[in-house]
Amino acid sequence: MPALAHKTYFNYGGQGPLPSPSLAAINASWGTIQELGPFTADIWPWLEQEVGGLRGALAALCGVPPERLALTENVTSGCVLPLWGLPWQAGDELLISDCEHPGVVAACRELSRREGLTISTLAVKELRGDLTSTSTSVLEALEASLTPRTRLVVLSHLLWNTGQLMPITAVAQRLEQHPRRPWLLVDAAQSVGSLPLSSPEAEASGAGAAAVADIYAFTGHKWCCGPEGLGGVALSERLLAEAQPTMGGWRSLAQENDGGSAWHRDARRFEVATSCVPLLAGLRRSLELLEAVAPAAERLELIQKRSQQLWQSLGQLPGVHPLLEVPPPAGLVSVVVEGTSPGELVRQLGERAIWLRTLDDPHCLRACTHITTTEAELERLVEAVAELTRPA
Ligand SMILES: Cc1ncc(COP(=O)(O)O)c(C=O)c1O
Repeated sequence: MPALAHKTYFNYGGQGPLPSPSLAAINASWGTIQELGPFTADIWPWLEQEVGGLRGALAALCGVPPERLALTENVTSGCVLPLWGLPWQAGDELLISDCEHPGVVAACRELSRREGLTISTLAVKELRGDLTSTSTSVLEALEASLTPRTRLVVLSHLLWNTGQLMPITAVAQRLEQHPRRPWLLVDAAQSVGSLPLSSPEAEASGAGAAAVADIYAFTGHKWCCGPEGLGGVALSERLLAEAQPTMGGWRSLAQENDGGSAWHRDARRFEVATSCVPLLAGLRRSLELLEAVAPAAERLELIQKRSQQLWQSLGQLPGVHPLLEVPPPAGLVSVVVEGTSPGELVRQLGERAIWLRTLDDPHCLRACTHITTTEAELERLVEAVAELTRPA
């Protein structure tokens, strides 16, 4: 991974490094397109194989059939395209957690402005305890926030700011009992690639969540270590039956030449038009490499081992307070540091080629650990934070 050379990297939740074999696969794919095509009868079967292969791999990773998996460009388009295609009625209420990404929140605001919807907030930001108490509190908060008009709940699987894991399957079960069966939109930016979503024995670690959500949207460029510009979304059968394409294009059509009347019945109705096919080979290669190093359940254990070690070591430094009261459930470690602005600390760490990021709400620093994170890197970060925060 060239991106990991000459630096100490903790921004996996922002973007994962691309392994060299994945970059080589992208280049090879580009070569094949030029050799076979680019726009000849010879290339169509190859293209179908590329698209089908990645769709199958992402569907398997999510634990859904391929018919429920649409290829997208990023997390946000995976959230927004199906969301805007749902049958809204003026007065419907959107219940959005207070830990959602600004892009998704902005899209919900614009949707509500245009369709006359209202927005209310599901409070999860302060839930910093163990998974059992967090699950109980999320369900209590949900109970208190649902109204007869609630039509959509937006909740990330792994909160990008506190690093807490949300009980998506329990939330989905509760929503099924609501008379209006609100849609469940899950931002899976931080969970795909880090959580074992399709290992039935790992329900406590998030398995089953992609299959029960109506919209489970993710990207390949974070924890999957794929190229930027390629993601996916798992969609429920119910959504596929009721939602119309938002940006319908030739790839949304069941038959391109039938006058444009019939959309695909499956998730392809949310795919649009020409996109960058070589990226597919890169993401597929990255997924294979991750799997070869450690299958999903084992990968989470490796990620946790490092994040928990970091959480503990940082928490022992004077004036450094992890947001979570318990060891992190996955790879995100957020801390507040007394007496220093997070931005200034990130800048000073960057001068030492140690890369992490700030978050605005809660205002803190976030370091992510992946299976590539080494003990030496953890020590380097902890020593640097200790040195930079030591009273003069
Ligand atoms: C939780 C969350 N949602 C959405 C996004 C946006 O991702 P994308 O640019 O792939 O749409 C991010 C990116 O950091 C994120 O962390």
